[in-house]
Amino acid sequence: MKRTALILFSAALLMMAGCSQKPQNVNRENASKDFLQLASERYSVRSFDSTAVEQKLIDKIIEAGHLAPTAVNSQPQKIYVVKSAEGMEKLRRVSPCMYGAPHCFIACYDDRNVCKRGEYGNYGDIDVSIVLTHMTLEAANLGIGTCLVGYFDPVELHKEFSLPANIHPVLLLPFGYPSEDSVPSEKHTTFRDLEEVIEYR
Ligand SMILES: Cc1cc2nc3c(=O)[nH]c(=O)nc-3n(C[C@H](O)[C@H](O)[C@H](O)COP(=O)(O)O)c2cc1C
Repeated sequence: MKRTALILFSAALLMMAGCSQKPQNVNRENASKDFLQLASERYSVRSFDSTAVEQKLIDKIIEAGHLAPTAVNSQPQKIYVVKSAEGMEKLRRVSPCMYGAPHCFIACYDDRNVCKRGEYGNYGDIDVSIVLTHMTLEAANLGIGTCLVGYFDPVELHKEFSLPANIHPVLLLPFGYPSEDSVPSEKHTTFRDLEEVIEYR
């Protein structure tokens, strides 16, 4: 009896250890369908409602970015969260692409933490782009609109926010609730043929 209890206890422990190491392989077909739906529904929002986004939802978007993979897990990202009217005014001075958003993330990398690539390059832009991909998708999941913005003056941005020299802005991400008349641009549904972008070798 004692022996059986010991075996059962050990088996339970082994199962628990297995669970903590490996994600559960549940209903993969449905899970991937849900993700594709989310990925196709996300679009660049270029008309925002002025309503503030609740902090608990902003926290979820931040958490999604925090979970993103980075080169050698270096996590070089530095994300500034701009919520104030004053901060948004500064951003409008450095980019024409704020689209009336109430808030914006300034997505940068810190060159003290970045993983080097070859002699001169680094993975900073790539890492931050992956972080932002997680964030835009989680935002879409929560009904919050975003637009990745590369059209800004990095020198002026540095000045406006007194950013340290080790901080390198990559993209801006204005975000907020889409206005009622917000619609995806034509580009959202314009795709090169799969045969052009995918090649099996
Ligand atoms: C690296 C990058 C930079 C971008 N910069 C801008 C920008 O400065 N202004 C803008 O309105 N959209 C910008 N976009 C959004 C793209 O135009 C948009 O993602 C693309 O046309 C596809 O449309 P969709 O996002 O609605 O699917 C940028 C997107 C990426 C990935």
